[in-house]
Amino acid sequence: MGKHSFFNRISEEWDQHLKEKDFSSVQKMLAHFSFSPHEKVLDVGAGTGIVYPYLRDLGVSDYQALEPSEGMARVFLKKHPEAKIRVVEFEEDDTPAACFDKIFIFNAFPHFKDFELVFQKSYRALKATGILVICHSMSREELNAYHKKASKVVAEDVLPAQDVMTSLFTNAGFVDVQIENTNWYFASGSKAPFKEEV
Ligand SMILES: C[S@@+](CC[C@H](N)C(=O)[O-])C[C@H]1O[C@@H](n2cnc3c(N)ncnc32)[C@H](O)[C@@H]1O
Repeated sequence: MGKHSFFNRISEEWDQHLKEKDFSSVQKMLAHFSFSPHEKVLDVGAGTGIVYPYLRDLGVSDYQALEPSEGMARVFLKKHPEAKIRVVEFEEDDTPAACFDKIFIFNAFPHFKDFELVFQKSYRALKATGILVICHSMSREELNAYHKKASKVVAEDVLPAQDVMTSLFTNAGFVDVQIENTNWYFASGSKAPFKEEV
């Protein structure tokens, strides 16, 4: 079974499996930042839309979700019909350059097929000083063990080691890279100020 079929199949029951820690991790992730109403935020691998309501409540009005599973996107839109969502893989998307202030990838990164491309696309899509965040409600070790047990389809979807993750950020041009791997996982990097697009 392919990954999108897998997420389509589990989409209707996805929300029932979410735990309090998932919601508190979204809140903790967003608490790192201040948001102004005119900011543009991209939520990649948005699933059924668990990050969106918190951003909306923080006053973010320019929100865009990307989600390749039609099933997940359908549930997302049932819950949040007013939100903007595009059904596409990030690696395949024509995301415009220098457009977003923040990009969040919450509980989704290990499922992506081309990590380097995800960083390159994120860097390009961010405005100068924009921030990319990769966050999980578990530590790297817990998450990798969880995927091994969850299903053959995601068994090999692992969060890279800290040195690999740091290189992914820095090779794409990100600065101020921070990685915390404790009872959750939080990695962020900023686009350098005033950098010209290539
Ligand atoms: C574990 S779910 C998490 C969804 C949501 N972020 C949440 O926390 O509930 C991972 C999501 O990443 C999406 N995904 C997988 N590959 C992707 C890709 N290449 N680009 C964007 N999203 C992807 C899946 O379809 C799935 O909905």
